[in-house]
Amino acid sequence: MHRSKIVAGNWKMNKTLNEGIDFIKILKESIPELRITKAIVGMPFIHLASAGPYLNGSFSIAAQNCHHEAQGAYTGEISASMIQSAGAEYVILGHSERRQYFKEDDDLILKKVKAVLSHSLTPIFCCGEPLDIREDDTHIQYVNKQLENSIFHLSNEEIQKVIIAYEPIWAIGTGKTASSAQAQEMHKEIRLSLADNFTLAIANEIKILYGGSCTPANAADLFSQKDVDGGLIGGASLKTNDFLELIRIAEASI
Ligand code: PGA
Repeated sequence: MHRSKIVAGNWKMNKTLNEGIDFIKILKESIPELRITKAIVGMPFIHLASAGPYLNGSFSIAAQNCHHEAQGAYTGEISASMIQSAGAEYVILGHSERRQYFKEDDDLILKKVKAVLSHSLTPIFCCGEPLDIREDDTHIQYVNKQLENSIFHLSNEEIQKVIIAYEPIWAIGTGKTASSAQAQEMHKEIRLSLADNFTLAIANEIKILYGGSCTPANAADLFSQKDVDGGLIGGASLKTNDFLELIRIAEASI
């Protein structure tokens, strides 16, 4: 099965507007058009509208969250239609930092996924286990439960539009990466579960990204795994050289 690669950056709460736009300009100048890889930059909401004009077919922008309601009295929140109107095509949802610090649960994340899909945006749905679960060797069951409780409630048509990011929490921002064998094991399990819950053809189409201390030093190994379709990159997406190198590695790893 041949799936193209995605390198998605997640800036989290980093970069002022000027810093963000400078980064995007460098990105665009350095790699004008990608052959086979899609590069996505997940940036703070307020950067989206300004970044849009600098992007091209190979590059897209993503928001990092979204409110599940269409509109209304939700002070300080941002809706899917607002994100879409600002030029983003993707929304990162269910990131472990949202789950941990903002108490987002599987139910709420499912609502957000549906809101995003209903505005023709692509959700990048994050899942992944904490360290104690990995040490208990119950990580596969844990991640399957996250999927069952949320995106496995989607229809066949809806699930095909979702990108999944497997991000073991113990690897996020810690410098401790899952080995390529650990990543491949989980990605394969996720794909098997997708085949069980939907169809084999759907499971083979869905992109599953790895996230967690992915850098130019380990990306070639990770991206060459059969079921790893690229990465969701935090720390290394903040540095233009690293991010560009990750894109080059993805292009070379097809
Ligand atoms: P990291 O973050 O690459 O800094 O580990 C990944 C993420 O949180 O998406």
